[in-house]
Amino acid sequence: MKVVASSPEGLEKYLAEEISNLGGFNINTYKRFINFECDFETFYRVHFYSRLAFRFYREIASFNCYDKQSLYEGVRDSFDWIGWLHYEKTFNVQVTGKTSSLSHTHFTALEVKNSIIDLQKAVWNKRSNISLDNPDFIIHLHLNNNQAIISLQSSLESLHKRGYRPAVGNAPLKENLASGLINMTQWNGKVPLIDIMCGSGTFLIEAVHQLLEVPINTDQVYLFENWLDFKKDIYLNEKNKAIKKIINYEKIPKIIGCEINKKVFEQAKLNISLARLENYIELINNDFLELHLKFTSGIIICNPPYGKKLGDENELIHLYEQMGIFLKKNFSGWEFWLLSGNPKLTKYLKMKSSLKIPVSNGGIDCRWIKYLIR
Ligand SMILES: C[S@@+](CC[C@H](N)C(=O)[O-])C[C@H]1O[C@@H](n2cnc3c(N)ncnc32)[C@H](O)[C@@H]1O
Repeated sequence: MKVVASSPEGLEKYLAEEISNLGGFNINTYKRFINFECDFETFYRVHFYSRLAFRFYREIASFNCYDKQSLYEGVRDSFDWIGWLHYEKTFNVQVTGKTSSLSHTHFTALEVKNSIIDLQKAVWNKRSNISLDNPDFIIHLHLNNNQAIISLQSSLESLHKRGYRPAVGNAPLKENLASGLINMTQWNGKVPLIDIMCGSGTFLIEAVHQLLEVPINTDQVYLFENWLDFKKDIYLNEKNKAIKKIINYEKIPKIIGCEINKKVFEQAKLNISLARLENYIELINNDFLELHLKFTSGIIICNPPYGKKLGDENELIHLYEQMGIFLKKNFSGWEFWLLSGNPKLTKYLKMKSSLKIPVSNGGIDCRWIKYLIR
């Protein structure tokens, strides 16, 4: 089948690599998404092992589309709606992109909906209800260059929500972005990993899960279970393999998170235990300036306040200055990775970077910066 996967901006290349390793082929990379082909087995498997995708969409039809009429007819004629979408099932329509005469996504979505329910009424004299919160089908229309592509969304929830994080601290990272950033450091689990401002613990949990290849989202009910060609036996086989996977926790090196705020620290503790990693991640409720570590090298990561969502820019200057002094004094020979969302503040570290990777963190243009501490 032909599948689209949505990606955090800046991580598309890593998502493509991940999907290729999981068995996807003919992969193309675009801004904020990739597309690929795969068999059913792989399609089900990527839902349990892709750490970077937000959502998967299966392409089911495409047609030329210029205006309201070609949209209505194209939707009606390009897919077996009657076979797939019984009137007892609910759905909603989401639209991205536009053509010159279909520029209002809300209006375009209504037209898609009308085309489908008119068809249902003609056959059954009954129609599906629309459900925004809990639909059985989510139908996507993408318009570009007078071409329409229709696809079905495979999960109700975004897959970055792994379920271990009911409690979040201040300005938490999305789990899939955290995972992608760890990926970029090429941390292989052979050296300690320290997050000096760990917030709700996202980096550390994702790093360990990624290292041990812990399956994710195995307890979700997926929308693809409603699809006409759902292969229940193949799906259950993949799901059982994921659930029964033996995890080798002995591989975990020293992992430490430091968080100054008591309440956020407690949240991190809860999240880490929900992720079943309480025996493998050490949490310290203190200022990172008080950290004394006896290891000779490793990787330090940090997503500090940028003075945008969190903190006041002028007050943060001192924090960045102190961080630079502290790292140079105590961590010579270590690698340091900083998620910088404010170049003005980052320069107060007074450290020379060796790599800067652009990424977007919740709409903030950021750089994932590597420093070799001397
Ligand atoms: C942007 S948040 C980190 C978010 C985290 N990556 C997550 O996903 O939840 C920055 C965190 O640094 C903490 N912090 C600020 N100054 C600190 C310090 N001097 N030592 C340790 N933690 C500090 C804040 O309390 C806040 O939770």
